[in-house]
Amino acid sequence: MKNKILVTGGAGYIGTHTCIALHEAGYDIVIYDNLSNSSCAAIKRVSTLIGQPLEFIEGDIRDAETLRQAFVDHQFFGVIHFSGLKAVGESVTKPLLYYNNNVSGTITLLEVMRQYNVKNLIFSSSATVYGDPKFLPIDESSSRSCTNPYGQSKLIVEYILEDLALSDDSWNLIALRYFNPVGAHPSGQIGEDPNDIPNNLMPYISQVAVGKLEKLSIFGNDYPTVDGTGVRDFIHVTDLAQGHVAALNYLQQQVDLQRSNSKRSSSKSSSVGFLPINLGTGKGTSVLELVSAFSSISGQAIPYQFTSRRVGDIASCYASSDKAKNVLGWEAKLSITEMCQDTWRWQSINPTGYD
Ligand code: NAD
Ligand code: WQD
Repeated sequence: MKNKILVTGGAGYIGTHTCIALHEAGYDIVIYDNLSNSSCAAIKRVSTLIGQPLEFIEGDIRDAETLRQAFVDHQFFGVIHFSGLKAVGESVTKPLLYYNNNVSGTITLLEVMRQYNVKNLIFSSSATVYGDPKFLPIDESSSRSCTNPYGQSKLIVEYILEDLALSDDSWNLIALRYFNPVGAHPSGQIGEDPNDIPNNLMPYISQVAVGKLEKLSIFGNDYPTVDGTGVRDFIHVTDLAQGHVAALNYLQQQVDLQRSNSKRSSSKSSSVGFLPINLGTGKGTSVLELVSAFSSISGQAIPYQFTSRRVGDIASCYASSDKAKNVLGWEAKLSITEMCQDTWRWQSINPTGYD
């Protein structure tokens, strides 16, 4: 029997791409989303791409009753928990909304999981938990600190997961710390569809390229980097999706091992506990390098101007991807070229997103 996975936030940018990868890897999926930052159109496109209808529950993770009903109706092996609000700037002006949605929502989800004895979880964490890193590449043992409510909400959830694993060794909890997800499905049918003017670099560039926005502002050209602009570890969203499949396969192996060990001996084998893993490529690319790659791949001019640094930004950030390779057997395969090609295909076929 195929293992069934509850995918909270499965209608969103990373969730939709991961649902396709999970389906291709043989998992059954149920999407749980309140559509606060996504639409049914995205779910329909995923259905078309996988050639079958998707199970979708419209619900909020803070609504314990609707969540419980999902666990009554389905026998889940585990949960991939994408749902959350993610705009750093908005989190500064609406901290209660962010803590309520991202932290309280996760606590409600964990309580319901415990009630139904589903204790395998993959949580969407972020490289933002590393704050301004002391050394590069950033490995999972680097110190953690955040300066905005969005980042704090991710860090608090990590602490909650750590405490939960310490309190009860039957939990298997993986926190995947994403670096900078970009790109789109190679079909051009699903991709990132920001509600408003994009906060992030890649969707901003692609909206300039397609003529929706006039000009990119590059936030600072005086960083101690290759060309003075910020350096980030951009990772293709389909590579990221494969990282979730690898994490789920790992959880499955560990749970099988725990079961067979507990049958063979009276001693319990150890659970995964709390396991943080970076998902990045290990390579840094500057803002100017990305602009130039996108411009030559799309054949469009990307007008830009330099402006002052954005508050809270850091100079450089890229991952050590050793742990993902050693523990999960996963590494990113796609280059900046494919990230730009696929973003451009999605943006040019769907200039107004899913509308
Ligand atoms: P997204 O906004 O596209 O997807 C999140 C989904 O969660 C949306 O479909 C939204 O409707 C849903 N959602 C939000 N609050 C909910 C709630 N209370 N109940 C049910 N559904 C809810 O974002 P994304 O880019 O796909 O990010 C997915 C996760 O990864 C988020 O937790 C985000 O913080 C994290 N993350 C994203 C990035 C990034 O750059 N995109 C980087 C690091 C971490
Ligand atoms: C990348 C670079 C900007 C926009 C954010 C969140 C992080 C994570 C990923 C969720 C920086 C520069 C950007 C623009 C620019 N999300 N830039 N002009 O800041 O690395 O990370 O998204 O967890 O938490 O903080 O990504 O794409 O916003 O910026 O010059 O219009 O592009 O200064 O150097 P960031 P980003």
